[in-house]
Amino acid sequence: MSDEAKTLAAAAALDLVEDGMRLGIGTGSTAAAFIDLLGARVAQGLTVTGVPTSERSARQCRDLSIPLTTLDETPELDLAVDGADEFDPALNLIKGGGGALLREKIVAAAAARFVVIADAGKQVDVLGRFPLPVEIVPMAMHPLSLRIAGWGAQVTLRQTAPGEPFVSDEGHHILDCAFGPSIGNPAELARRLSALPGVVEHGLFCGMAERVIIGHADRVETLMG
Ligand code: 5RP
Repeated sequence: MSDEAKTLAAAAALDLVEDGMRLGIGTGSTAAAFIDLLGARVAQGLTVTGVPTSERSARQCRDLSIPLTTLDETPELDLAVDGADEFDPALNLIKGGGGALLREKIVAAAAARFVVIADAGKQVDVLGRFPLPVEIVPMAMHPLSLRIAGWGAQVTLRQTAPGEPFVSDEGHHILDCAFGPSIGNPAELARRLSALPGVVEHGLFCGMAERVIIGHADRVETLMG
């Protein structure tokens, strides 16, 4: 999908940002477009503080002189803005394509409002075309792979190069679980995944998004929860 669509969605989210807000700042290319626009507003005098959801986004914020804080200093946020890999009509999401799902979920949960920005290509009727990222403790990789494969998913350990597992900012591995477009009850799958020892977090965000701002080539559309 075009960069314009992402930028349009990011710009619409920026309209929700008010002076003095404590922000959660997402990860990924759409969130990066939001950070760029936010940086421009900060340069013009907007006062905000942000909790970034990844080291990558933190670097981008620092490069743009966006003031950063932590959840230790600022445990309650006004607004979190982040991208998504998929969203369904009920605003359930799959996130974690960029490997930041754990921090993303923690930050979104700390925010009074969680707003998703995504291009129209992320809209689906039923979640699951995008492989569901599941963040795990490394020693649990084999038993968890077998268990989740038994639920009908094709399970792949995310790697940065052959034999080199991806390591998240919190030091975990990620299993990409391809269920196909069949996750008709995301909340139930979320409960089952969370109950597995060794699963740190999964990329199903159910009942969290206040709205999804969908970027098209020349306009935005908003789905409200
Ligand atoms: C990172 C994420 C991203 O929000 C998601 O992958 C969407 O990324 P992009 O905006 O580049 O399509 O969940 O962990």
